[in-house]
Amino acid sequence: MPAIASSAPGKMILFGEHSVVYSRPAIAVPFLGVKVKVTALANPLAPAGQVKIEAPDIGLQTTLDQLPVDHPIAIVIHAVIETLGIRSLPAVTLRITSSIPITAGLGSSAASAVALARAASSFVGYPLTNEQVSQIAFRSEQRLHGNPSGIDNTVVAYAQPVYYIRDKPIEFIKVAAPFTIVAADTGVSATTADMVNALRMRWQADPERHEGWFDRIAEIVDLARSIIEHGDCAELGPLMTRNHALLQLLGVSSAELDRLVDAALKAGALGAKLSGGGGGGNIIALVPAGSEESIAGALIEAGAVWTKSTVVSSRGDS
Ligand code: MEV
Repeated sequence: MPAIASSAPGKMILFGEHSVVYSRPAIAVPFLGVKVKVTALANPLAPAGQVKIEAPDIGLQTTLDQLPVDHPIAIVIHAVIETLGIRSLPAVTLRITSSIPITAGLGSSAASAVALARAASSFVGYPLTNEQVSQIAFRSEQRLHGNPSGIDNTVVAYAQPVYYIRDKPIEFIKVAAPFTIVAADTGVSATTADMVNALRMRWQADPERHEGWFDRIAEIVDLARSIIEHGDCAELGPLMTRNHALLQLLGVSSAELDRLVDAALKAGALGAKLSGGGGGGNIIALVPAGSEESIAGALIEAGAVWTKSTVVSSRGDS
């Protein structure tokens, strides 16, 4: 069997993280400038059915039977086997490499699951559909995040901008005029599960106030959608900054995230917000085309450990 290579992009949540868990809408786009790549290489000399896993970025080198069954990688491979209705994979080495910063809000876990499901299914000659791959990635997200909305696996599997409400049909959105985003990493890692769980406790303590904030974010998301589809993208900036202020009220920002948001705005960004689970990880800033380098420089000066600029279009970004 020939070697198979599959990949999946990262993601950026432009508007609506966290409130999307509470059935409000959110908008996410694929982040094509970063990706997870999985190669599947036949191992004819290995015992039948042995699946070797190599993930050098996280120092993992093991076999499937050594992994706990609820490890996200094991969940994905068993789900592929179940979906395809086969007994096991032929002996294979699955090598996972990634340029997506981990626990940084950019979808590295969803992208790993999607790329792995694609590589394993293509290796046996039955590549799964985007929907099947998305469902499999959702199962591993459930293991990692407890109560994921499903937006991460959806945007990563379909690699298109989405307007997403949990348990509703996915709506793909057209980007009328491409716009430029700079992402910047605080270098602080925070797990989405912790952020989602902590917010749930605050929501349980004061549902009325939190529901009000979720509703205000939902209004921003709907306005943003119509702006994205009609092309006045500079108007997205103030909406991003307003969304960030509401995320602060929800308690999912941090001093480091706020510092980068302020630095982006001072350096000329049209708007900025945290993106993803928060608590650490990345901010995203909408910037005038041509100013990405100077704004990225200001973000590094303000403490960012990594920046990447990208142009968002109907395909995602470039
Ligand atoms: C994480 O990328 C987005 C959150 O809204 C969680 C979720 O939607 O599952 C924080």
